[in-house]
Amino acid sequence: MTAPILEAHDLVRHYLVSRGMFAPPGTVKAVAGISFTLEEKKTLAVVGESGSGKSTLARMLTLIEPPTSGRLSIAGKDVTGASGAELKALRSVVQMVFQNPYGSLNPRQTIRRTLEEPLLVNTDMPADRRRREAEDMLARVGLRPEYADRYPHMFSGGQRQRIAIARALMLRPKIIVLDEPVSALDVSVRAQVLNLLSDLQQEFALAYVFVSHDLSVVRHIADEVLVMYLGAVAEHAAKEALFSEPRHPYTRALLSATPMADPGRKKERIVLTGELPSPFDPPSGCVFHPRCPIAFDRCRVEKPAITGTSGHLTACHAAAAPVPSAA
Ligand SMILES: Nc1ncnc2c1ncn2[C@@H]1O[C@H](COP(=O)(O)OP(=O)(O)OP(=O)(O)O)[C@@H](O)[C@H]1O
Ligand SMILES: [Mg+2]
Repeated sequence: MTAPILEAHDLVRHYLVSRGMFAPPGTVKAVAGISFTLEEKKTLAVVGESGSGKSTLARMLTLIEPPTSGRLSIAGKDVTGASGAELKALRSVVQMVFQNPYGSLNPRQTIRRTLEEPLLVNTDMPADRRRREAEDMLARVGLRPEYADRYPHMFSGGQRQRIAIARALMLRPKIIVLDEPVSALDVSVRAQVLNLLSDLQQEFALAYVFVSHDLSVVRHIADEVLVMYLGAVAEHAAKEALFSEPRHPYTRALLSATPMADPGRKKERIVLTGELPSPFDPPSGCVFHPRCPIAFDRCRVEKPAITGTSGHLTACHAAAAPVPSAA
């Protein structure tokens, strides 16, 4: 087994938010204690509905925001106690690709400048070599090197996402965190970008953290899946185990809402009622209990620990025993 490239231990991120002029500020618990390890060259998909804390987690993993508490280590280095120079070095090990390639590329910069910038800031590579590296990387993501002198608006959404991926690769990172990287793209383009990501993963020996709300996309790309609910892990398992034997009622509900071409699988229908509660004032006990079709008394008062065997972890009082069907 190879050493983990990324280790998160009980990561927490709180935001202080104003509640009006006369009230003291409140605390939004956007990420409420997440732990996982990711091996080199593997893909961890992070799924969950809007507001579950996926992007907040992604920002902590890419050192854009520090955790409120918890420990993070990247390539064996503890980030929490790292000095400025160490953090700078770690920032080239982990890079991020955002959902919206329209917003993430500077409209006033040529593609060449966008791709060369990380090299200019972080290395002392001479200009002619930077130029070559940028053109080579454009070719590797499937774009013609002569496009380098164009501006972002001259490209389609899929092409722009290819450029954003090329930029993330310029410093030869070991980990790329992709926050909904194909959600803004047409379905036809989506598959091409996913294939490109798979090819690049092999070629550059990359580990991916792939944030998505779409389980049918995750099914193609993930090795492991971490299901988040209200800032916490509901379930974490190898992809096959999660899809064939989901244990948490929330995972089962997500799967039942995902149309997937899998005629062998008996379709279970679980409809979640109500909305994701506010992370400002999370429910007592198991945070999922107000929407859970099988909640019982214990769930309302006692927070379930995350437990399991052979890498299949679930935070659910009922998951130790088989979960009865809600239908
Ligand atoms: N800077 C911030 N200040 C205050 N609250 C924040 C901040 N960033 C995120 N939040 C809150 O934290 C919670 C988690 O947000 P986050 O963006 O991480 O969710 P998400 O899972 O990425 O959702 P989506 O699928 O919509 O992108 C939300 O309730 C959000 O309002
Ligand atoms: Mg998000």
